[in-house]
Amino acid sequence: MVMARKKKDAVKELEEFEELEVGESAPKKKVATLEDLPGVGPATAEKLRDAGYDSLEAIAVASPLELKEIAGISEGAALKIIQAAREAANIGTFMRADEYMERRRSIGKVSTGSKALDKLLGGGIETQAITEVFGEFGSGKTQLAHTLAVTAQLPPEEGGLGGSVIWIDTENTFRPERIRQIAEERGLDPDEVLKNIYVARAFNSNHQMLLVEKAEEIIKEHASTDRPVKLLIVDSLMAHFRSEYVGRGTLAERQQKLAKHLSDLHRLADLYDIAVFVTNQVQSKPDAFFGDPTRPVGGNILAHSATLRVYLRKGKAGKRVARLIDSPHLPEGEAVFRITSKGVED
Ligand code: GTP
Ligand code: MG
Repeated sequence: MVMARKKKDAVKELEEFEELEVGESAPKKKVATLEDLPGVGPATAEKLRDAGYDSLEAIAVASPLELKEIAGISEGAALKIIQAAREAANIGTFMRADEYMERRRSIGKVSTGSKALDKLLGGGIETQAITEVFGEFGSGKTQLAHTLAVTAQLPPEEGGLGGSVIWIDTENTFRPERIRQIAEERGLDPDEVLKNIYVARAFNSNHQMLLVEKAEEIIKEHASTDRPVKLLIVDSLMAHFRSEYVGRGTLAERQQKLAKHLSDLHRLADLYDIAVFVTNQVQSKPDAFFGDPTRPVGGNILAHSATLRVYLRKGKAGKRVARLIDSPHLPEGEAVFRITSKGVED
């Protein structure tokens, strides 16, 4: 019975939808909820919400194909829904360059703890962007993540964003004791600092992707508090993908899922003004095609998706050297820092 009713609802919605001609201005009602979107009635709205598309913003940045699958509608219908959501959410359209500059001005920066490294990065790691740090084992990726989880909580005048932190841990290397130490050394209350970090262990790549959805719930809950989420860490991004998809035959599927994962992360970064920090390993087994040992894993999809890529390597006497790779707007260069009880410092 319920099924039959739902089907009827869906058919009715479709009919209502099809009455709208392209270019005809639909009766201009204010779009405030999913149900206000063209062709979306209670049945479709429910399907969308069930699949996690529970806000106009989420729909505005969805792909037509995704909506088509989820709601069982035509691609054209999905496109109209997305367009209406974009208008209502006021994103995804052209904006004047002065407005664009204004939005860029709102980009926040989190200090890495090292002035030299901050300078290399143009002030710290940025919100509305994905920063990828890659390097061999022991190069300091996880230590940098621990430091950022503390510095992100500092007030802006001290290099932070006064925010909360979400940490997706794939290798079981998050250490609260280390957070405590870094916080104490930086004059913060370690208990308070730990309270503002939300950690989850990802058991496989699917779980890792699911955790990004869960992260959005935490982000929303905190959005209008005095501790909005400002930093999302994935340490390490590729470990599960790499171990689960071995062999050339699985590469296409892996890259497809990775692309989805990265686009989810980009969406959170953009939508909620969050700095996304991901760590990555380098190719450890040079072969004919991937001879460069400083090459990060993940292939082109990751290369084109991260906003900024930083290569870390061990230097002399416990020093670490960071180098920017292919940055679109920052000069190339290197920065030297150390890992100490304070985390990362000059
Ligand atoms: P993988 O995850 O294995 O690829 O390495 P990684 O790049 O994440 O390395 P990580 O950040 O874990 O760096 C490990 C190095 O940091 C160690 O070799 C130590 O030199 C240093 N380190 C780790 N913990 C501490 C600490 O509590 N105090 C200090 N002073 N150094 C630390
Ligand atoms: Mg690590």
